[in-house]
Amino acid sequence: MEIVQTVLSISLISSALAVVVVIADRFLNDYGECVIDINGGNRQMTVNGGSTLLSALAANRIFIPSACGGKATCGLCTVQVASDVGPVLPTEEPYLSEEQVNEGVRLSCQIKIKHDLEIHIPEELFNIEQYQARIEKITDLTHDIKEFRFALEEPAELAFKPGQYVQIDSKPYGSVTESVSRAYSISSVPSDKGFVDLIIRLVPNGICTTFMHEHVKEGDTITLRGPFGDFYLRDGADDLVFIAGGSGLAPIKSLVFDILEQGLEKNMTFFFGAVTKKDLYYVELFQDLEKRYPNFRYIPALSNPAPEDAWQGDVGLITDVVAKYVETPVNKQAYLCGSPGMINACINVLTGIGLTEDEVFYDKFT
Ligand SMILES: Cc1cc2nc3c(=O)[nH]c(=O)nc-3n(C[C@H](O)[C@H](O)[C@H](O)COP(=O)(O)OP(=O)(O)OC[C@H]3O[C@@H](n4cnc5c(N)ncnc54)[C@H](O)[C@@H]3O)c2cc1C
Ligand code: FES
Repeated sequence: MEIVQTVLSISLISSALAVVVVIADRFLNDYGECVIDINGGNRQMTVNGGSTLLSALAANRIFIPSACGGKATCGLCTVQVASDVGPVLPTEEPYLSEEQVNEGVRLSCQIKIKHDLEIHIPEELFNIEQYQARIEKITDLTHDIKEFRFALEEPAELAFKPGQYVQIDSKPYGSVTESVSRAYSISSVPSDKGFVDLIIRLVPNGICTTFMHEHVKEGDTITLRGPFGDFYLRDGADDLVFIAGGSGLAPIKSLVFDILEQGLEKNMTFFFGAVTKKDLYYVELFQDLEKRYPNFRYIPALSNPAPEDAWQGDVGLITDVVAKYVETPVNKQAYLCGSPGMINACINVLTGIGLTEDEVFYDKFT
């Protein structure tokens, strides 16, 4: 009992101190106006000190990639900071390599603006726009995956490379009082001008996915930003291996359809891993492609098919199925999308077959 009381007292004192620090910081530390110099004077902006670098840039319509909304859990919001902003924080450490730290790369959501700053960001980030998009259609793909078709309203077109993603903003609902921003890969092709399709899997208790699955309807308007990301087709190989699980099918669908539409001379094998038949979707779509295009092969595999599935296809972990079919690394590239665990396991298999790490491209859905 005494131990419980001591622990409770310490927690209460720590919480009270944290609140005092936040309030004191807000009222005592008036950082005034600060100038952010971007890319050696290419652009300059004046912002009120005290906010994070990520939010100050967003307020000035410079959208740095961010899939966790500033909670230091995605590691995507990196920016090279030339000014002294103090040591790397423990929240940043897991996401920065030694090389990045030496180059001054930091997580912009963790950097608080206290004085003038000089930063460097890739020029293509200036092309990222914020869009208002109307939900045109919602389709149930599986028991926990829905597809959303958005009609872009303002601006009316989004130029992207197949494989890239957008960020969408949820709105407060029920007991959720905050709006969060999350990353979703585009599943449609660039030629489908004026529209963007997203495939979203419901994460139990997930803020944004619950919003999208349970609190939006056709006709609603959503804010999205993009395009982001470096998961897109590279030159250099004729044989492409695509591997996806769950909603990781989204960017692969965009890549495959775009390659076929462009008539590129690529041989493609698409491995899709699921647990049971109820987790499979777009099977007919890809089987139909297989019939129409001799250079496209579709291999769905179930890791644990239910007896009622009467599954005739491949059974096993997707890593085993990939190892069974991919024999040589020659002239190959691999594109992987899904959970970090699945991607790490597939990278091991592919490098074991002989692909080098720079022949394997991926987007981890963290
Ligand atoms: C580049 C990129 C592209 C992405 N593209 C897609 C996409 O096309 N389709 C898609 O459905 N998702 C995609 N994601 C994942 C997406 O951004 C969100 O992380 C996910 O939808 C959960 O958001 P949430 O707000 O509902 O959950 P949160 O409120 O962020 O999380 C709630 C809880 O669930 C856990 N959690 C978060 N994500 C997952 C997960 N995937 N599985 C299990 N537990 C989880 C968290 O740790 C937390 O405990 C992508 C992520 C990245 C980085
Ligand atoms: S926004 Fe996710 S780590 Fe900074």
